[in-house]
Amino acid sequence: MILSEAGTALAIPFDNILLTDFSLNTEEPTSQQQSPEDKLKQDFLRNRGEIPCHIAVIMDGNGRWAKSRGSVRIAGHKAGVDSVKDIVEACGQLGVRHLTLYAFSTENWGRPKGEISALMKLLVQSLRSETRKLHENEIKLTSIGEIDRLPPTCRRELEEAISLTADNKRMELCLALSYSGRWDIRQAVSRISQKVKEGTLCPDEITNETITDHLATAHIPDPDLIVRTSGEFRLSNFLLWQSAYSELYVTKTYWPDFRRNELYQAVESYQNRERRFGKVSSHFELEESPFAIR
Ligand code: FPP
Repeated sequence: MILSEAGTALAIPFDNILLTDFSLNTEEPTSQQQSPEDKLKQDFLRNRGEIPCHIAVIMDGNGRWAKSRGSVRIAGHKAGVDSVKDIVEACGQLGVRHLTLYAFSTENWGRPKGEISALMKLLVQSLRSETRKLHENEIKLTSIGEIDRLPPTCRRELEEAISLTADNKRMELCLALSYSGRWDIRQAVSRISQKVKEGTLCPDEITNETITDHLATAHIPDPDLIVRTSGEFRLSNFLLWQSAYSELYVTKTYWPDFRRNELYQAVESYQNRERRFGKVSSHFELEESPFAIR
């Protein structure tokens, strides 16, 4: 992931970018109807152990995926949307309650204008084409980050989708947009300081919960599992406070090739971990998967 200085990119024209110019075939098509084999895999995982309540994903490797096919970075982002669709669908079916996707970081504003425009356009197109399906499947869309920095069309589509799906209960899909963990902690500290200044909060009363409650994720439990694609062992400024006890799963697979079978591997790996939260071990044993979830 390219990390550079944060920039400003409010007035970005993107209507002149034709995303159809950047189509490449991905490894597997996104599923239209759930296959009996896929249903069996999901049933197995549910019976095998705990399904993480909150999965957060650092979607990385779109650029390298495109480069490895001799194409431009935008082709990688476009192909990455198919992975987003497959993972959202699979998480909803599996019983994951919260899925957070790191779709655009604060640092991503430092990318070339053309790439930022293409990413914003992809977001708008995806919201336009997928919101109805999210709603039909009882998925609630939310976002975290400096949404005010997004181009107006993007913000409008996002706000409409958030409002339409607000009462859905099956799963929450949270898009981290113009988000960074340090921004989140900074804005929480700023709001807490304001309360101290106004005399409504005493400094001695500030606890971990106070900070948690002022983060953009106040309404979401901390991630149980953080998945990062493309093989980098970094958090890249994602959910810094919230990841204190998250289990990490890193795969070399580039995001456009990351589909539900690898998600199942990540969940299986999560189920194999013993989460002690700093305490002592308790004995636990799990069944081996009969599926070659590879
Ligand atoms: C990281 O790959 C990926 C991103 C910064 C953007 C992710 C966006 C999408 C998958 C598409 C739009 C999303 C939604 C939710 C509709 P990279 O560009 O850093 O790849 P590299 O590390 O190989 O250069």
